[in-house]
Amino acid sequence: MSRNVEDPRDALIAAARAVRERAHAPYSRFAVGAAVLDEQGRIHAGCNVENAAYPQGWCAEASALAVMVAAGGQRVRAVAVVGVAEQPVTPCGGCRQKLREFAAGDCTIWVADLSVLRATFTLDELLPQSFGPEHLRLP
Ligand code: THU
Repeated sequence: MSRNVEDPRDALIAAARAVRERAHAPYSRFAVGAAVLDEQGRIHAGCNVENAAYPQGWCAEASALAVMVAAGGQRVRAVAVVGVAEQPVTPCGGCRQKLREFAAGDCTIWVADLSVLRATFTLDELLPQSFGPEHLRLP
């Protein structure tokens, strides 16, 4: 799922809500949708995909990133994650690192449920003092 937008926040959240409907989460019954805005202003969305062999499942954020990379996107400018829980559904630790590969520390991450925006973070807030691609670049 990818399209051009003018209002990144509302469009990203809408895309994450829509794709969440397609989550394959028969084991946890915890559906998550994620959407990323790339450097070209395109939105890429993905949902969690669980597996009968439980550890083989993956998160919505990983799906959205895979869709972006497959479409030729190179940088993540903003992120929306949508889930329904008492607390805002923030990206798991592994997904924070996956986002770090493509996003700057000041990249905005919006966390929403089906009706409202629940919280706003930067990637640096969710993953401080992080390790990234530049660590592997020799001087
Ligand atoms: N999940 C996501 O898709 N993203 C997150 O950031 C948190 C967790 C999924 C993984 C699993 O399919 C289900 O939610 C319950 O953990």
